[in-house]
Amino acid sequence: MYRIHCLNPISKVGLNHLPENYSLTDSAAEADGILVRSAVMHDMEMPESLLAVARAGAGYNNIPLEKCAQKGIVVFNTPGANANGVKEIIIAAMLLASRDIVGGIEWVKENQSDPAIAKATEKAKKAFAGTEIMGKTLGVIGLGAIGAMVANVAEQLGMTVMGYDPFLSVDAAWKLSHSVKHVTDVNEIYSNCDFITIHVPAMDSTKGMIGKEAIALMKPNAVILNFARDVLCDEQAAVEALAEGRIRRYVSDFPTPVTSGKPGCIVIPHLGASTEESEDNCAVMAVKELQDYLENGSIVNSVNYPRCEVGPCRTASRVAVLHRNVAGMLTAITTCAADAGINIAEVVNKSRDEVAYTLIDLDQKATAQMVESLNAIPGVFRVRVIQ
Ligand code: MLT
Repeated sequence: MYRIHCLNPISKVGLNHLPENYSLTDSAAEADGILVRSAVMHDMEMPESLLAVARAGAGYNNIPLEKCAQKGIVVFNTPGANANGVKEIIIAAMLLASRDIVGGIEWVKENQSDPAIAKATEKAKKAFAGTEIMGKTLGVIGLGAIGAMVANVAEQLGMTVMGYDPFLSVDAAWKLSHSVKHVTDVNEIYSNCDFITIHVPAMDSTKGMIGKEAIALMKPNAVILNFARDVLCDEQAAVEALAEGRIRRYVSDFPTPVTSGKPGCIVIPHLGASTEESEDNCAVMAVKELQDYLENGSIVNSVNYPRCEVGPCRTASRVAVLHRNVAGMLTAITTCAADAGINIAEVVNKSRDEVAYTLIDLDQKATAQMVESLNAIPGVFRVRVIQ
C-alpha cells in the first residue's frame, strides 16, 4: 500500500487515477509520495518515508530540489499539462494590453444608472480605444510547451513571431511553426518586439533576466508579458519605465506590492493555469508520474533526477539506488550484488549534474545483507527494493 499526501487541494479527476493499493493520508510524516501545487516546501522537514514529490504544474520554485535530491527524493513536474490554459490567458493578456477593455467595462459599471448611457458611450469610448495585435511582432523567450503554443497561435492571429531558447529540445522544435524566426541573441527580441513573453523556469541564472538593460532596449510601445514567475523581471525597473513612457504595459500573473495597482501594470491573480482542464490534466499527469516511479522506478519529467524510463520488472527483483554522480559508483553497486552471489540481469545507470540513478534487475530476490551493503557505499542517498 502506498500512502499519498496532498499538500494542496488536487483535482479529483487526478486522484481518481490512484489504484486501489494507494491511500490518501492526512499526515505528510508517513507519506511515500506528496502531491503539491503552490505550497512552499523549502522549510519543510522531509519525512524519511518520502520517496517522491509530484508538482501538479510547471513551475517548481516552491520545492527544495537539491535538498530532496540528497535525501533520495525524486521531484517531478508536469510540463505541458497546463500549457493550453496558460496559452489562452496570454492571448487575452495581449488583447487587454492593446485596448483598455477593463477600463471600458468599469466605465459602464460606473454609468449603469444613466438613462442616456447609450449616447454617452459613443463619446466616452475613445478613452478606451487601442490597437490590434495582427501585424505586431511577438518575442517568445523560452520555447518549451507553453512558449511553443503561444508562438504558434500568435502566428495564426497574424503576428510575426521571434523565438529565443538556447536549450531548445528537438521535441519542442518539432512542435514549433517553421515560420517562427529563431534568434540566438535575446537582445534581438528586446529591441524588435511589440510584445515580449517569457517562459523560463525561475532559477538563480534567470532571476531578473528582464532587467534595466533589457528594458532600455525595448520600443516605447513594448508590452512585457510575465506568466512564468515574478522574479524573472526586475519589476521596479518595469514600473519606472512605465512611468517614464519607455514601455507601454507590464502584464503579470503574479501580484506583488511593486506592481499591484500601478499605472500601466495589468496584474492578474495567478490565473494562468486555473482552468478546470489544466487542473485536471496536471493532477492526472502528476499521479501517473508518481505511480510509475513508486511501482517501477521509472523517472519521467523529474526536475532533480535524470530521466530513466523503464517498464515493469520482469526478473525476480529490482533495486533502485539514488546516489552521488562520482566515479566508481557503478562498480561499487554491482560488487554488492556479486558479493551476495546474485546475478544482475540488467543495469541502467543515468546521471544528471551532481546526482545519478542506478536500477538493477536481479535474477534472485535482493537480500537484506545486499541492501545493507548498498546503503553503506559512501555517496548513496537511498536504496529502494522496488520488487
Ligand atoms: C505553473 O507553474 O504551472 C503555473 O504557474 C500554475 C501553477 O502554479 O499551478
